[in-house]
Amino acid sequence: MKIRPLNDAVGVEIIDLDLTEALSDSDAGAIQDAFLEHHLICFRSNPLSRAAFDRVARNFGEPQEQLIRNMRDDDTPTVSILDSTYKTPESKPDDMKLMRLTGWHTDDSYMAKPAKATMLQSLKIPNSGGQTGFSNTRKAYEDLPGDVKARCEGLQAVHSYDTSRAPATAKGLTKVETNETPDVVHPVIRTNDDSGKKAIYVNMNRTDQIVGMDRAESDELLDYLVERMVRPEYRYHHEWSVGDLLLWDNRCLVHSVNMDFPVGETRLHQRILLKGGAPV
Ligand SMILES: [Fe+2]
Repeated sequence: MKIRPLNDAVGVEIIDLDLTEALSDSDAGAIQDAFLEHHLICFRSNPLSRAAFDRVARNFGEPQEQLIRNMRDDDTPTVSILDSTYKTPESKPDDMKLMRLTGWHTDDSYMAKPAKATMLQSLKIPNSGGQTGFSNTRKAYEDLPGDVKARCEGLQAVHSYDTSRAPATAKGLTKVETNETPDVVHPVIRTNDDSGKKAIYVNMNRTDQIVGMDRAESDELLDYLVERMVRPEYRYHHEWSVGDLLLWDNRCLVHSVNMDFPVGETRLHQRILLKGGAPV
């Protein structure tokens, strides 16, 4: 197994590792170290069956069930199939901001215990576009001015399934799903429970308002933090190959999809979320 950096900001790739074989203790240790240091691992692989994907995921954590019922796979409910294909010309807007996946977000932050990591494998990719961008909010936090760090210390924010701050509206939920997703409150600066490192924990699609601030003051600080956390120097944009399996840390990365790819070209992934604890 070889580990190589993807760029200076985020991520490593792992080659010459057969994911369907049992992972040795030394490889598992090296992967965990790289995960905590670089926050994103790209395994160069072939598409896995859903059952094999679930087995691989258990090397890195405990898979959780997908919330949205119609995205669940019936036999393997921890695996969701994400189809972002534009089926008709009308489904692709001129303004990419209207596509929810373009907003810089961390998966699952509207949950009391958001998934600590996401595993996403490409099954089919379009001929152009469709990259997934990642931004390192741990580095962004470390580079914040001291007075901003002090101001953010102890602040908490409300995260909602949807917020008027999001650039695009979220998919509707069933009644059961809505009941499972009341608003939650999380720290604005989150400490990684495995590494002890702090990171900005703000989600453009879900973070609604900072507790104890009026809307204007909260918007101003959230806008500032978003601008800081996605500066180009913190980013890596992943150009997918079929079979690439990414594992990333939702506690210290945000991501965004380049939704500008051709109508009718299939873009299909399978995803597993790994359980996490309540953010602190
Ligand atoms: Fe996502």
